[in-house]
Amino acid sequence: MRLWGSRMGKDPNPAFTRLNASFSFDRRLYAEDIDASQAWARALEGAQVLTESEVDAIVVGLEEVRETLGGPAFDPLPTDEDIHTAVERLLTERIGPVAGKLHTGRSRNDQVATDFRLWVMRACDRMVDAILGLAKAVVQSAEAGVDLPMPGYTHMRPAQPITWGHWMLSAFWPLLRNKDRFARAYASASVLPLGSAALAGTAYPIDRKAIADDLGFESVSPNSIDAVSDREFAVEYLFASAMLGVNLSRLAEGLILFSGPEYGFIELDEAYTTGSSLMPHKRNPDALELTRGKSGRLVGHLTGLLMTLKGLPSAYDKDLQEDKQPVFDAHDTLLEVLPVLGGLIETLELNPERMVAAITPELLSTDLADYLVGKDVPFREAHEVTGRVVRLAEEKQVALDQLPFQELKALDDRFEDDVVKIFNLEAALERRSTLGGTAPSAVKAQLDAAREMLIRV
Ligand code: ARG
Repeated sequence: MRLWGSRMGKDPNPAFTRLNASFSFDRRLYAEDIDASQAWARALEGAQVLTESEVDAIVVGLEEVRETLGGPAFDPLPTDEDIHTAVERLLTERIGPVAGKLHTGRSRNDQVATDFRLWVMRACDRMVDAILGLAKAVVQSAEAGVDLPMPGYTHMRPAQPITWGHWMLSAFWPLLRNKDRFARAYASASVLPLGSAALAGTAYPIDRKAIADDLGFESVSPNSIDAVSDREFAVEYLFASAMLGVNLSRLAEGLILFSGPEYGFIELDEAYTTGSSLMPHKRNPDALELTRGKSGRLVGHLTGLLMTLKGLPSAYDKDLQEDKQPVFDAHDTLLEVLPVLGGLIETLELNPERMVAAITPELLSTDLADYLVGKDVPFREAHEVTGRVVRLAEEKQVALDQLPFQELKALDDRFEDDVVKIFNLEAALERRSTLGGTAPSAVKAQLDAAREMLIRV
């Protein structure tokens, strides 16, 4: 059964038939195709195109088709060009010619747009859940090291002391934004195209609002030409995926560095690492590298679909069949990565000794400048004086806190003997207690805010 065969004088070229077919991937839309077809049948009854008993036969028949397509044994025919063709064929085999009434006033153009939007809406819900799963692991690890000092880095150079809790929570807020992005992609997808038909709208008095309510769409598309070709919801889904991929990649990169022997701040559980086939001593962070690596394909999917869309004239073009694989792959990739990363974070061990040992006194140079500010020195000047102190310590090859007090005094007589207090790590952390700062008290508040966000969803 080909849905358009009679118009042609000859059979299609077999290689072209393979190129044209999308069943191998759009079979994933089977549940949505059946849901939307059942809703369409009910709408046709409302429009007095189908009788109640015809709709009953179609709805029940489609339930059987759902079983068939959902089962592992389903074997498509070569003529099952796409999921819509396959569903209609299977329905015809079950209920006979009345199945042929289902497509009245509908086109595969509004059908596929409807199915795909439904699928993306459901996928967004799965993404939100998976992101929250990882976010919980992140919060748990932050809690375990809420006041544990470690060096913070800018330009990959030691900068100022922070806490593990603060560092870990810096990955929480991007996750929360990513979750919100999927919620927005859901809202973009939640506009019903069904009833737009091929491009000009349907010729039957269909209550489109009723279909929207039936299927859980928030609104109905206002322009049938736009409706059959609008794939912005898919682009938004792919942007949400790409942005999440980039954020996960950055988190993975940080964990790769911190778990390596040079830093040694954390220890990855063996269950999330691999060995080397050659070097017996190796334990590699493959889970994190794959997280980082897969972000590339997620960005690729976004740019790929944008390129597909960019040259299209209005209404449906077959190019649009290219919209589904990137979205499916982005979905599958992230649902594979997120739980692994969550498990890795849940099981990683912190190494407080290594973290604290890596905090050298120069990391408190800003605090030394702030000390002078406390003696009423303008910050610019305090920075300049402190720069000279740092240089002197470097020349003498001593740590910043090991310079004899007389040498400090000689550089600037506003230094007094209370300056030694500056080199207290706990005090330095606690000074940064403003909202969002690294002081354990502020990080505890941040942790409460993060937990609150997790409860609220
Ligand atoms: N398989 C097609 C797709 O994914 C369905 C729509 C086909 N429409 C058409 N006019 N040939 O886009």
